[in-house]
Amino acid sequence: MLHLTTADMKKSSVSTIVVPVCEDTGLHDDQALESIIQKAKKLKEFTGKEKDDIILYGMPEVKPERVWFMGIGKKSQLTPDAFRKLAGRAVKACAKKGLSDILFALPSQKKLTMDTESVLTAYLEGAYLGNHMFDKYKKDTNTKPLKRISFLVSPSVKRRLNHLPKRVEAVCRGTVLAREWVSMPPNKKTPSLFSKTIVSLAKKEKLNVTVLSEKELRKMKFGSLLAVSAGSVNKPCMVVMEYIPKGAKKEIAFVGKGVTFDSGGINLKSADGLDGMKMDMAGAAAAAASMISVAKMKPKVKVTGVIPLVENMPSGSAAKPGDIIKSYSGKTVEIGNTDAEGRLILIDALAYIIKKNKPDLIIDMATLTGACMVALGEKIAGVFSPDDNLASLIIQSGEATAERCWRLPLPEDYNELIKSDFADIRNLASSRYGGAITAALFLAEFTKDTTWAHIDIAGPAYTKKGTDYCGPGGTGFGVRLFCDLIDKID
Ligand code: BES
Ligand code: ZN
Ligand code: ZN
Repeated sequence: MLHLTTADMKKSSVSTIVVPVCEDTGLHDDQALESIIQKAKKLKEFTGKEKDDIILYGMPEVKPERVWFMGIGKKSQLTPDAFRKLAGRAVKACAKKGLSDILFALPSQKKLTMDTESVLTAYLEGAYLGNHMFDKYKKDTNTKPLKRISFLVSPSVKRRLNHLPKRVEAVCRGTVLAREWVSMPPNKKTPSLFSKTIVSLAKKEKLNVTVLSEKELRKMKFGSLLAVSAGSVNKPCMVVMEYIPKGAKKEIAFVGKGVTFDSGGINLKSADGLDGMKMDMAGAAAAAASMISVAKMKPKVKVTGVIPLVENMPSGSAAKPGDIIKSYSGKTVEIGNTDAEGRLILIDALAYIIKKNKPDLIIDMATLTGACMVALGEKIAGVFSPDDNLASLIIQSGEATAERCWRLPLPEDYNELIKSDFADIRNLASSRYGGAITAALFLAEFTKDTTWAHIDIAGPAYTKKGTDYCGPGGTGFGVRLFCDLIDKID
């Protein structure tokens, strides 16, 4: 879908060319381009401010029938993400107009202070992701995605960066997959339905994949995970996906919270709280979809995806507040609140993969706490890790991919808050403050000496309104972040 081209604008048969325009300076080397920009800027209604745009039709200097000038603000404030957003907006708008192709002009290397690779990557990502729409369950879908998205680059950029479109497609295909899963209604993604989809995709990508059934989970004593699924007629399972390259020296595990619907259980959520709880498997979606991307990227490290899947429902067979269960690790847990279920399934998944594979590094992603949203809002994920180096790599990847992360602490003395009078630990803290932290500290108890980070994605996993390059629903948060991180560690 994505292509780099050096084609002459006078000859290109594309329907629309998009030209990013800075408010205060020229961005392009091409004289013809700069001169048509001047024409556009002469018009009162176009200045080049961010989100400012104008379409001019039938310009004699170029062949495409539409030239879409899109403002991108002041040069000093430009970031690669500005191009990601611009591309997303442009693709969405062209698709709405019923067009089928688009050509983006890339600013000149010399005129930007950012490196071309970061700008082009972001530009490609915005275009690919803006072209995705979730309309599977609608009969009338009048908007169709664009068929061909091209980027006008210099011959030297094409030579140097011609591999980028393929790489961006591999990563963004994962993001789109995760989005679709998160947006999918919960009756269509019960643990068994979801696991079947994952298995069939994983097999296509030649990944090793196994599913532990409820029976096996019971035999293997996944007591904490099973306590969460006890109230549901939909049986739990756990998917393990493995990418094993020859000669790998390191193994990274990616564990994702997969609660396909979180009703809260016996501690039933309010009507407001229930709304949107189909998204409580966004960590699992990010982990499974990242594995599909990893299979295409082929890094040198071994990567394992661990995906516990459950539905959290109230019923006569559900776990109750006060219950004490034995987790996979052997530690006992007192259930203080059945709505703090994410940590219960994660500790069994973490303990299992540590025992089975002893990975060098574990990342878990989870829509774990409302408290993390209170702290960081809906666009930024919370990162917890005792390892400064890993935390800083994650923050850096967050900046590069615009999947923003902010580190929060794991204070030793807060462990006091998750002590139980009757069991080894309690899933509910004794204070209502610092809920994202106490949830992370709970997980930390089960990670032993493994280098580990926990990313709370409760805020950024879902968008009600949509963004410049994402429709309403799942955002696919975590896939770009994880793929970038793998590159750093590889
Ligand atoms: N899935 C929720 C967290 C969540 C809330 C995700 C809102 C996305 C949006 C989680 O299982 C939960 O219910 N957490 C409780 C924990 C509490 C009972 C200690 C919470 O955050 O209120
Ligand atoms: Zn919950
Ligand atoms: Zn939950």
